Amino acid sequence: MQISPLTPGLGAEINGVDIRRLDATAINTLHRSLLDYKVIFLREQDINLDELQQFSRHFGELTQLPYIKPLEGYPNIIRVLKEAHEVNMGVFGGDWHSDFSFLEAPPRASILYAEQVPAVGGDTLWIDMAQAYRALPREQQTLLQGKTAIHSGAPYGVTHAPEDSSRFKGSIQIERNNPQADRETRHPAICRHPDSGELLLFVNPTYTIRIDGLAPAHSDTLLASLYQHCTRPEFSCRFKWTPGSVAVWDNRSTLHYAVNDYDGKRRCLYRTTIAGAAPRPA
Ligand code: SIN
Repeated sequence: MQISPLTPGLGAEINGVDIRRLDATAINTLHRSLLDYKVIFLREQDINLDELQQFSRHFGELTQLPYIKPLEGYPNIIRVLKEAHEVNMGVFGGDWHSDFSFLEAPPRASILYAEQVPAVGGDTLWIDMAQAYRALPREQQTLLQGKTAIHSGAPYGVTHAPEDSSRFKGSIQIERNNPQADRETRHPAICRHPDSGELLLFVNPTYTIRIDGLAPAHSDTLLASLYQHCTRPEFSCRFKWTPGSVAVWDNRSTLHYAVNDYDGKRRCLYRTTIAGAAPRPA
């Protein structure tokens, strides 16, 4: 396997591997690379959905998602699809987020497999929340120490999506008013990664609704300044999909963002999600 980092801190492409045939050494290398680079990419994989599930299970137990209709016959796979005719509308994952951070036990990882992608556009970006934490001004690190952030699935596609009533009628079926997603969940604002021990900023603009114990205006200002800080290009990497690409990301230590710049082109990926545990305080 050849491992080529995309940036000094985040993201690596791994070549020379067929994900249908992995021995113990290859699986260990993938686990190690995921820990080191937080998101790994494998190109030119020719797999079917059963093979996607089989590959995904190397990273843990597959989980079902609270408000997204899974693929017929595959309860653990969702299709991330935008058809060419679906224009001027929001896109699934089109703002910075960590997948389902509003769950008591947010996923540990997610995996996307690209079937069809535009020749240009439809990239995905990730940011490294450990680097973002380390680069925070000392006063903000101190202010956040011991603080709890409140997460909820209720604002998804409402607060941070384009003003367009068609946004829930697209190819990806999102069910609203699901009490499992809409209730409030408490997580430490600063977490410790269970495997690397790194400290992580664990808030995101899609699901974090406030910092507990702060006046609403103070909480809003603080979160806005944290988002401005953590989305700096220095903490990010960007992946240009090609058909057959696979991305695996650590969902505890990164946020990601699907770039919605390809109206008129079809983009179709399949996603699995790996069960996680409640975030550990710093
Ligand atoms: C997601 O948030 O899982 C979707 C990312 C993408 O479509 O690039």
